[in-house]
Amino acid sequence: MSEKVALVTGGIGGIGTQVCKRLYAQGRRVVAGYLPDEEAAAIEWQRVRRQEQLDVAIVPGDVSSFESSTEMVREVQERLGPVEILVNCAGITCDRTLGKMEKTQWEAVLSTNLDSVFNVTRQVLNGMIEQGFGRIVSISSVNGQKGQFGQTNYSAAKAGVHGFTMALAQEVAAKGITVNSVSPGYVETNMTLAIPGELRDAIVAQIPMGRMAQPDEVADAVAFLSADETRYITGANLPVNGGLYMC
Ligand code: CAA
Repeated sequence: MSEKVALVTGGIGGIGTQVCKRLYAQGRRVVAGYLPDEEAAAIEWQRVRRQEQLDVAIVPGDVSSFESSTEMVREVQERLGPVEILVNCAGITCDRTLGKMEKTQWEAVLSTNLDSVFNVTRQVLNGMIEQGFGRIVSISSVNGQKGQFGQTNYSAAKAGVHGFTMALAQEVAAKGITVNSVSPGYVETNMTLAIPGELRDAIVAQIPMGRMAQPDEVADAVAFLSADETRYITGANLPVNGGLYMC
């Protein structure tokens, strides 16, 4: 496969790390985006990748901010060239029932999980159109498909990612660009570790496969959708949820 530049937002996180590894194995020039506040963690992350013989670049950027996303993509383009593969992977949870949810909790989740998809995709799209090639894969969630108690903010944002994906897919279908989403179920990462113990057990009990996903199982789906030869799938949502939700 050609050495195309792949930007993975949330690249140093649980799923993001495995996505970076899989895209690197596909021969991509991978750059992992990280929150500027997490610079020390990002440098350490890159050191570990180098020990694993993976030469992955890192770039700071707060994807909830349009200006910061502009700066992040500008830096990637200066250092590596135009972004041809974008994986929108940065995301947070802030679970609370709606009756107790603060506006700040709503806004934090919507801006990090949904505005971010606009903020970053907007920066790379016209370049992809000029090149006549692009792969955009956004990480959504099973909870954007079925809703989840305590997650009005997260479920709304992740459902929004589906809408964005289907609309943009139509806009660029004839330009060599595919736009898809992957909807993981519950994945073994720090995000799901934050769910209180008994609740986590109750959730796992509902998963037909009887276990959470490993991050690399989600990365496999991203690698598939972003591959050069996966050129006729667009506007799709690929669930990776162990059978938790089927539609
Ligand atoms: N269905 C029905 N009732 C539920 C429930 C459920 N799924 N979960 C909790 N409840 C009940 C509680 O037992 C409690 O009942 P009582 O009032 O009778 O005691 C009530 O609903 C919740 O009241 P709280 O005051 O505790 O509510 P809260 O606003 O503090 O929020 C919560 C609780 C933080 C939402 C907690 O329920 C929780 O953490 N739930 C897990 C949410 C979840 O699944 N998050 C997924 C994170 S991972 C992820 O999002 C990744 C991905 O993409 C899949």
